[in-house]
Amino acid sequence: MAEKLWDGRFSAGTDKLVEKFTSSIDVDKKLYAHDIKGSIAHAKMLAHESIITYDEADIIVKGLENVKKDIEDKNFVFSDSLEDIHMHIESALAEKSGDAARKLHTGRSRNDQVALDIRLYIIAETKKIIQSLETLQKILVNTAKKYIDVVMPGYTHLQRAQPVLFSHHLMAYYEMFKRDADRFKDSLKRSDVMPLGAAALAGTTYPLNREYTRKLLGFSKISDNSMDSVADRDFAMEFISHASICMIHLSRLSEEFVLWSSSEFAFITISDAFTTGSSIMPQKKNPDVSELVRGKTARVVGNLMAIITLMKSLPMTYNRDMQEDKEPLFDTVDTLKACLEIYAAMIPNIEVNRSVMYSACEHGFLNATDLADYLVGKGMPFRQAHSVSGKAVAYALGKGKELHELSVDDFRQFSDLIDADVFDYLSIEKMISRRITHGGTGYETVKKAVEKAEKDFKQ
Ligand code: ARG
Repeated sequence: MAEKLWDGRFSAGTDKLVEKFTSSIDVDKKLYAHDIKGSIAHAKMLAHESIITYDEADIIVKGLENVKKDIEDKNFVFSDSLEDIHMHIESALAEKSGDAARKLHTGRSRNDQVALDIRLYIIAETKKIIQSLETLQKILVNTAKKYIDVVMPGYTHLQRAQPVLFSHHLMAYYEMFKRDADRFKDSLKRSDVMPLGAAALAGTTYPLNREYTRKLLGFSKISDNSMDSVADRDFAMEFISHASICMIHLSRLSEEFVLWSSSEFAFITISDAFTTGSSIMPQKKNPDVSELVRGKTARVVGNLMAIITLMKSLPMTYNRDMQEDKEPLFDTVDTLKACLEIYAAMIPNIEVNRSVMYSACEHGFLNATDLADYLVGKGMPFRQAHSVSGKAVAYALGKGKELHELSVDDFRQFSDLIDADVFDYLSIEKMISRRITHGGTGYETVKKAVEKAEKDFKQ
């Protein structure tokens, strides 16, 4: 059994059950590269401040690099008796590098060490996620461009409301993912704070040069309160919160893909490569990718609940409860990255059924608001126009017709302001073209939004 690094005050060994229960190595071994990076910087700083010699630091650095290689070559034994990744690395280093290695932990605690490792991990993963979000945004913009003039019904309450451009609909998701990327960029600032030097909770008696360590590790600033440094997991809660919002966006897109690819809607066809079949029903082609992304949203939101509940009411400073922060964090990172990746691959593989979308716009009185607008244009106050249009809708419903299928005489029963030009006014193309206020679904407006998005990418 490996020697414990904290066994000085203990006369009896740890119960096997306790070792197994308290061990986190299966989970936190993922942090090995960050842990080693932090330890190398700490050792170099100790030498720079003459707390250890440069020779000792060299031995430590070389030893740590060898440990890293062993882990990567799968030449490393993990065991519950060494609890976590920090103990494993330090103990392996001691085996390789002897006494010099035993100086590495000078002026450091696992409490500031783990805080550092998680921060390094979150910073690295946040940057990757921002990139994936930007890739997805580009794909949405390209798809919007490809189908720039395809019309579809826009919905409220999942009832057909008004015609919109499919490209406008996709650009709504572009906006969501842009906000997600902005949120991650913003929270990077709060992750980018170097906690080493806080030690267990109170700072240390050694003349550590925290600025020097900060520079070596590439952080923007050092933390200002040693107690907060080891107790803070805001950055992890914030990360999972942003990830949850992003997953909510993906789940909404997923729900639309599920609906649109159903025979009831038939707005899109997802390519065979991104659908799966049924083991019993030969005709089935299921949108499993979208369903799974929708389902995985629950995991990430669950992870958010786990971490915020974990941190609730914890007294200052570090508490072992906090070891439980890693599973929800790692699971969130893996899930979000996988979902972003699969959507980026799937979206270019959809086929848009233009004529089905178009004919859906012709049924369900999607031009009723425009009939009211038409009357307003002829001088009628909007409220009255709304009521006239409503009466025309009721009349058409009774006849089993749409508004554009009525005659001018039919219309005139409700207002003599209506002329034959109403039909052109109520055409789908005209309804779209008129919506040119900033952010509207007009052809020109959406083209401009797409161009602006493309310009934003080029910067
Ligand atoms: N494995 C621990 C964690 O992830 C590291 C810190 C342990 N600190 C301690 N005082 N036991 O939280």
